Amino acid sequence: MGRLPARLLVTGGAGFIGSAFTRRVLSRHPDVSVTVLDKLTYAGNRANLADVESDPRFTFVQGDIADAELVARLAPDVDAIVNFAAESHVDRSIEEPDAFIRTDVYGTFVLLEAARRSAHQRYMQISTDEVYGHVPDGSSGEGDPLHPRSPYSASKAGGDLLVGAYHTTYDVPTLLTRASNNFGPYQYPEKIIPLFVTNALDGEPLPLYGDGLQIRDWVFVDDHCDALELVLAEGAPGRTYNVGGGNERTNLELTRAILALLDRPMSLVRSVPDRAGHDRRYSVDTSALRALGWAPAHDFDTALRLTVDWYRDNEPWWRPLKSGEYRDYYRRQYGDRLASGTAIE
Ligand code: NAD
Ligand code: DAU
Repeated sequence: MGRLPARLLVTGGAGFIGSAFTRRVLSRHPDVSVTVLDKLTYAGNRANLADVESDPRFTFVQGDIADAELVARLAPDVDAIVNFAAESHVDRSIEEPDAFIRTDVYGTFVLLEAARRSAHQRYMQISTDEVYGHVPDGSSGEGDPLHPRSPYSASKAGGDLLVGAYHTTYDVPTLLTRASNNFGPYQYPEKIIPLFVTNALDGEPLPLYGDGLQIRDWVFVDDHCDALELVLAEGAPGRTYNVGGGNERTNLELTRAILALLDRPMSLVRSVPDRAGHDRRYSVDTSALRALGWAPAHDFDTALRLTVDWYRDNEPWWRPLKSGEYRDYYRRQYGDRLASGTAIE
């Protein structure tokens, strides 16, 4: 692999994927330093960065990517910006879209403005396969039209379009990646895998939306981070790269696999009213990324077992997250749904 830029500004680095990327880059590239800029929203957690806190090449700044003054102060001292910062949960975007537009669209604009004014080697935007919308058959190529259908995916698509515009108009050396569903350690327990694992550990119901036959393509977070390192080192400026594990599963299949690993019964599962505008399937064509030499290093079953074991062994990490604001969110999101839920076999 080619060399990474020496000084990285990693925004959203206290979240699930950004922290995995930060831990990995610092452990694998002795010549690279990382400044994390993170607002520490409900999803940001310094504990995710505990492994690197004492590393002299690591700096943490608490702040907002939409704060143009702060970003303008940090940007000149780095060689590349890697933007993970986002509001990332579809259900929350349906409940309250505001913060999604502010961070995922406006925040991206602020970072791109800073990149335009600094002679950065790279600006890399971490995006999502959800911008392509529902994919009835086949797989989305990077040049396919965008059909985002939730406030979350629309806000990410807005960010993507700005990235393209800044490359075309200002020649900012942008890279854009669009990944499928990530899973692994340190994922906030609102997303289906950590939610279902931790609920099952507590003997709580698992709220499966609708018929559970929606399809997601799962990629292990470390494989996603490997892809990001490669694109950051070797990607062609202006290009987009899809990232997907090639592990398409229905939510029902995924749920069965989780319960089997935990040796818990299917009677925990409740079919609950569906997510509004729920996309049935995503699937990405990853040939551009594979042409750079990437392939996932983890098979799905092994990585799912590793992930389930991690949550079982790391209750002190997730238990506090499931209190406070989370309990209110959970009641709003699932209270009525679970009351009208039905059993599934
Ligand atoms: P996450 O919700 O776990 O973390 C997001 C991080 O961004 C948090 O640390 C939060 O504090 C920070 N943040 C939010 N708003 C901010 C702001 N205004 N300024 C600074 N920091 C802010 O998200 P994640 O799952 O790690 O996703 C990271 C990125 O990857 C997002 O851009 C997301 O759209 C994208 N993505 C996620 C997945 C997935 O399956 N999780 C798949 C594809 C793409
Ligand atoms: O595809 C990439 C996207 O994957 C990322 O861009 C998003 O940031 C990330 O949150 C994820 O979005 P999803 O909506 O696919 O993830 P989530 O874990 O919320 O849901 C996965 C599937 O499981 C989806 O079909 C909805 C379903 N689901 C989810 C929850 C939380 C349930 O059936 N019950 C639930 O309680």
